[in-house]
Amino acid sequence: MQDRRGRACPVPFGSVILVAAAWLAAAGSGPEKKPETPPASSVRDGVYTEAQAARGKTVYLERCVECHKEDLRGDQQMTPSLVGIAFTFRWKDKKLYDYFVGMRNTMPQGAPGSLSEETYADLVAFLLSEMGYAAGKDELSTDPEVLSEIVIESSATM
Ligand code: HEC
Repeated sequence: MQDRRGRACPVPFGSVILVAAAWLAAAGSGPEKKPETPPASSVRDGVYTEAQAARGKTVYLERCVECHKEDLRGDQQMTPSLVGIAFTFRWKDKKLYDYFVGMRNTMPQGAPGSLSEETYADLVAFLLSEMGYAAGKDELSTDPEVLSEIVIESSATM
């Protein structure tokens, strides 16, 4: 990966020993600590592209807008808002995969699972963009493993 190249300097050997020593000390006394897993990415890391969100918008306007409305905030009655506090409250700290699967398995209401995996990813991209999460250079994948690595953090817009 190009943008990592500059930062790929080796860790000074001394600090490796310090970390190992601290880890051994912790293992001896307190509850066992697992070695750190690499930090998962989050929805704030540019996990979709502008083009993908634009595709998602087209589908949204065809298949979702009648219930969830143009402002994505639903009808204040049967249909919930898809953005803001409603989204954050329900989905914060969950995996983007869970959100993706939830949407695919229930929406559009009356025809769940009727769209392609790619189209559901496009819809997720559109909703993320509407909530103010920045786009990036790679499209949001439909791969469960990739989606499971992405954590939902609270949105910028409420
Ligand atoms: C006929 C009305 C209707 C249509 C069309 C519809 N929805 Fe929904 N949607 C609902 C209702 C009602 C709920 C809440 C009940 C539920 O989750 O089943 C909901 C819930 C959701 C949720 C879960 C919200 C949350 O935070 O848990 C998402 C995401 C969603 N819809 C996305 C979509 C998308 C994307 C489309 C278009 C592909 C769509 N919906 C089409 C009525 C609709």
